[in-house]
Parts: sequence; C-alpha cells; structure tokens
Amino acid sequence: MSATAPATHAAVTGWGKCLPPAALTNHDLATILDTSDEWIVSRTGIRERRISHVSLGELAYVASARALACAGLNGASVELIVFGSCSYDDQVPNMASGIQARIGAQAAAAYDINTACTSFLYGLSTATALIRTGVVRNALVIGAELISPFMDWGDRDVAVLFGDGAAAVVLEASARAEGLLAEKLGCYGDAREILRVHGMGGRYANRGILHGITRWQFEGQEIFKRAVQGMAGASEEALSRIGAQPQDVDLVVPHQANLRIIEAVARRAHLPMERVFLNVQRYGNMSAATVPVALCEALEEGRVRPGALLLMPGFGGGLSFCAHAVRWGERTTPRGASEAQLPPNERTALELIRECLARKTRPAPAGADPFA
Ligand code: UT7
Repeated sequence: MSATAPATHAAVTGWGKCLPPAALTNHDLATILDTSDEWIVSRTGIRERRISHVSLGELAYVASARALACAGLNGASVELIVFGSCSYDDQVPNMASGIQARIGAQAAAAYDINTACTSFLYGLSTATALIRTGVVRNALVIGAELISPFMDWGDRDVAVLFGDGAAAVVLEASARAEGLLAEKLGCYGDAREILRVHGMGGRYANRGILHGITRWQFEGQEIFKRAVQGMAGASEEALSRIGAQPQDVDLVVPHQANLRIIEAVARRAHLPMERVFLNVQRYGNMSAATVPVALCEALEEGRVRPGALLLMPGFGGGLSFCAHAVRWGERTTPRGASEAQLPPNERTALELIRECLARKTRPAPAGADPFA
C-alpha cells in the first residue's frame, strides 16, 4: 500500500495463544465440590480447564509476543494495543500499558476494554475502526482472562464453567477486502443483574470485603436463553450487512461457554455444526480469551483456508452480545515463532486453587507492607 492511499481494511496477520499448563479436570473438581464429570459434560461439554500459576499480564505478554512473531512484526512498530479483559491484575495503570512496556512499543496507544466475555471482539471492532480511519496502521488486540483468583470455589453453579487463558491477534492496514468486514454489537442492559460478580469493583471496598472474595449472582438458564437469542440474531445481522447467507460461512468460531449454547445458536442461525470450531471441552469458558484461543487452534488444525469467511458470535456479562464476520487473507501459517514462554510450574491445578483460597483468607504477616 502506498503512503497516500487510504487503508480500507485491517487484515489479521498474526495470532498467538498462551494457555497455562495446569489442567483442572471434572474429576478434580468432584473432589472439592458436590458435582460429577457426568453432570458437567452433559450440561456443558466441558471436560477440563486451565488454572494459571502466573499473572494475567504474564499470560497476555506471552500470547502477544507469539502473535507478533507470527506476523513478523517488531514490538517497536506496533501503533495500538487493545487489551480485552474483565479480570485485571491492576486497574491503574491499565493492562495495555504493561504490554506496551514489555514488547517495547514506545509509540503505541494502549487501552483496556471490558465487555466481559465479548471484550476481545469489541476490541477487534475498535482497533479495526481506528485502522480503517487511518488513525493507526496496525494494532495488537488481546483477549486474556485470569478468572481463577475471582472464582467462588465453593459454588458449583459457576466453579465448573470457567478457566484461565490468553490470546492475541495482529491487525495491519490492507487495501484488500480482508479482516473484519462487518459486525453487530449489542447489549441487554435490562438483564445485567443476571450475571454479577459481587466483590469485583470499588462499590465493595467500604464493606470490608477483601480483594478476590466474590459471590457470583448467576442465573444460568436465563443467561443461556439470552446468549442464544443474542448470538443467533447478531450472526444473522452481521452476515446480512455483507450480503452473505449462512451457507457462505466457511467456519464459525464462537464464544466457547457451553456446548449446548453453541449447538442452539448454530441451529437457530442455520449454521451446520460441521462448520463450527469447538474447544470448550479443553478449556471451559475463558471469557475474553475464548474466541482468540479458538481462532489460533482452528488455524493450527488447518480449519481456516485462505480467503475463508469466518463468523465469530459472542456474549458475556452486561449482557453484551455480538457477531463478527471476518474474511481471512492468503496466509494461514505463521511467519515466525517467538521464544517467549511462561516460567515453569510444578504445582497441580488443585494446589494452585488451594493457594488462591489461602491468599484470600490468610492475613498479611505482622509488620509486612501489604502493597509491597
Ligand atoms: O459467558 C457467560 C457465561 N455464562 C454461561 O455460559 C451460563 C449459561 N448457562 C448455562 O450454561 C447453563 O444454564 C448451566 C450449565 C449453568 C446450568 O445448566 P442447566 O441445565 O440450566 O442446569 P440447572 O441450572 O437447571 O440446574 C439443574 C440442577 C440443579 O439442581 P436441582 O435444583 O434440579 O436439584 C442444580 O443445583 O443441577 C444442579 N447443579 C449441579 N449439579 C452438579 C448446578 N450446578 C451443578 C454442578 N454439578 N456443577
């Protein structure tokens, strides 16, 4: 593209994921909760999920370094970083600025975006818009989540559903009609109370609640219905905005919260399950990380062919919902690999959960600076 020609699109040129190694199986969960592998698999399709031994920033950094290497892009040339998440290590300074510092993207703008599970997809929208309007020429868009410290590990209604993980994509200005072509974004604000994590946010500070102590208000069946309605409707709307039909979609890469929700969306939006990518069985619901991790794995497994039309429906707290129609480019293999890795972990997922619970209840030793 010449320096004067306006960029009309934002192609996806890099992708990378980072999953913490400790896997928590349904059988592990059945040792601490009144639940069973049979219940969890039949209601959700989930068999295991990952529990992180590192911070959210660390997971996201490794995913970002891998995405940049995949695009063959140097950190210093990144112009925008959008960090999608609802489980921050810090609110001030924000998470995106930490990635900027670690990848050496001194000239990049950096902001966080929180629409819960749809944060990555909303980030894809805003980054694409800023590229298409010429504000920046490229962007790193991250979807990362560290749910385990905020989980109520005594509540079987929610503890079996979620996991930790991170992934990122690189977008670059392109004159070809690729990348995000159209999206539908929406929110059922009237139903926002059916998914609330009590304890995450400033409103709880004056009630003497320690950071990380949470109670989940979670009306599973109502969320289920809204999720299906929101994702199926948004899918139809996004496709109609580009004049496409369900049969034109080569691969659906949906938010992975529950296999039954995905099947219901596919039925309602006339999308055959053979064209739906699934990895919910391995990771559970990683909130903002689910779609980009699924995209990385679809590429690794050869499910994305050059020029493919991808559809990415999502939903989450808020209740936010959306669907994104993405035209893939020519390249489906990485340009390069990064050496970035997580530090080693010796602990099992159950041990990590026990440590997490101990941190919430154990007072700091006398004289210790709790902010050190
Ligand atoms: O990104 C947003 C995230 N939110 C979601 O993805 C949630 C969407 N909702 C769902 O995925 C489903 O509604 C659930 C998986 C949460 C629940 O499935 P369900 O088929 O709607 O089950 P239910 O809520 O009707 O519960 C059925 C029974 C209840 O027992 P009783 O009242 O019938 O005696 C629950 O207490 O299953 C019980 N139950 C469990 N049993 C064993 C609930 N959780 C568990 C569990 N293990 N983990």
